[in-house]
Amino acid sequence: MTSQTLREARKYEEASEKMIRQEDRPGFHLSVRIGWMNDPNGFSVYKGKYHLFYQYHPYSSHTGPMHWGHAVSKDLLHWEYLPAALAPDEFYDRDGCFSGSAVTLEDGRHLLMYTGVLKERGRDGGINEVQTQCLAVGDGVDYEKYVGNPVLDERTLPEGSSRFDFRDPKMWKAKDGTYACVAGSRSSDGSGQILLYTSPDGFSWNFKNILISNKNRFGSMWECPDFFELDGKWMLLTSPQDMAPQGFEYHNGNGTLCLIGSYDEERGVFEEEHDQAIDYGIDFYAPQTLKAPDGRRIMIGWMQNWDACGIRTPEEPWFGQMSIPRELSVRKGRLYQNPIRELEGMRKGKVEYRNVKVTGEIRLPGIEGRKVDMELRLRPGAAQNPYRKFALRFAQNEEYRTSLSFRPHESVLKIDRKFSGSRRAIVHQRRSLVRKEGEELKLRIILDLFSAEIFVNDGEQVLTMTMYTDLSASGISFFADGQAIMDITKYDLLTESETPQR
Ligand code: FRU
Repeated sequence: MTSQTLREARKYEEASEKMIRQEDRPGFHLSVRIGWMNDPNGFSVYKGKYHLFYQYHPYSSHTGPMHWGHAVSKDLLHWEYLPAALAPDEFYDRDGCFSGSAVTLEDGRHLLMYTGVLKERGRDGGINEVQTQCLAVGDGVDYEKYVGNPVLDERTLPEGSSRFDFRDPKMWKAKDGTYACVAGSRSSDGSGQILLYTSPDGFSWNFKNILISNKNRFGSMWECPDFFELDGKWMLLTSPQDMAPQGFEYHNGNGTLCLIGSYDEERGVFEEEHDQAIDYGIDFYAPQTLKAPDGRRIMIGWMQNWDACGIRTPEEPWFGQMSIPRELSVRKGRLYQNPIRELEGMRKGKVEYRNVKVTGEIRLPGIEGRKVDMELRLRPGAAQNPYRKFALRFAQNEEYRTSLSFRPHESVLKIDRKFSGSRRAIVHQRRSLVRKEGEELKLRIILDLFSAEIFVNDGEQVLTMTMYTDLSASGISFFADGQAIMDITKYDLLTESETPQR
């Protein structure tokens, strides 16, 4: 039975999505149907399609009582909206249906697990959010909340853990057909821990162990965990709150963390061997992964950061986009990410230049646009005058520009959206230490109307940011102080309907 709250949300989104013209949305990144979007949820393959749910407040472009929005796709690039899947309409989730995940049950039904939020007044008069884990079962469009909800509550928490920070369950099906899930939690030391639960059938869940404790090393509470095997290693992805920078890592406040290690499945313990940020840009948080039918591990993140939400003016009818889905791998002990290969199917109008000498600012015929896939190899030019700084500027006209600059002697890559049209004093720049291969730096730049994602050295690092520059700014230019030499291959990224007819 669909509740009144859900029916209203569905009616509202259908009527008001018309306020947004298609050309005012990103070209191939999923944006919210109407209103506000944050974390990706329930990222899964179901009945032959990719399903992506998301944290959703349809009624304004600000966060509010969370619903789950819903979209489906065949290629992770062209999305079709489905009606909102969950609304805060039960006593245990009255104040929000927070993040969670999806699996397919043995009998073919789609199972969602999410965090139910219920506000409670404390003895001191303050408001706390009690968080529990809840289920809903459906057919890919309509979902019914489970009568036994909540299935995980304070009774299943290890001693000392907070009832108010217990959220974001990520389920998976184990090899033996049983189910497991990880959830973020706050322990008595005030920092994060990841809890591991198991279930024989997806409905009755038991606490197994504390998979790993933060012990105040990486930020405080760990949100939105994901846990999976990849290339012979076990990967724990999580989004810690309140991170302090360490060298060139973790500059994002609400950051992202990838721990690579091994997993003792018997005991339910994860041993980490390596840590790194997942994204080195500004706008990337709460990623979630799925295993595609062809075996690829694909990750998608909220292309936003809680600290920088003010970049978009409040009167816009939509706020929130997802990142480009990324294929993950482990190489040389690090996480590698590359745009899903399906993106290559959208490439049109190849323009290529080899050995271009750059001194001062130059433009190249055919190189412009806001929906672009560009590969760039950069090396020093003339021995007596090698470049000291290189910059790629895009979304550029007389008034605006967003840039990517590189200082080879420091090996630091910087993104800068200060002049992207933002009128807020939020973070606009981020520096990242990158590796040169010999003297060469290799970049792949994916531009969509309102974002830039920079993949460095075949996916060794990624820097992501949003920009809401006026769409008339579509110039691209290159700058070098000294001489740089570059090879460039550039494509437009267009859907079939946008492809110019011959
Ligand atoms: C992360 C997060 C989650 C929570 C959701 C609420 O961005 O804070 O921990 O479930 O957003 O919308």
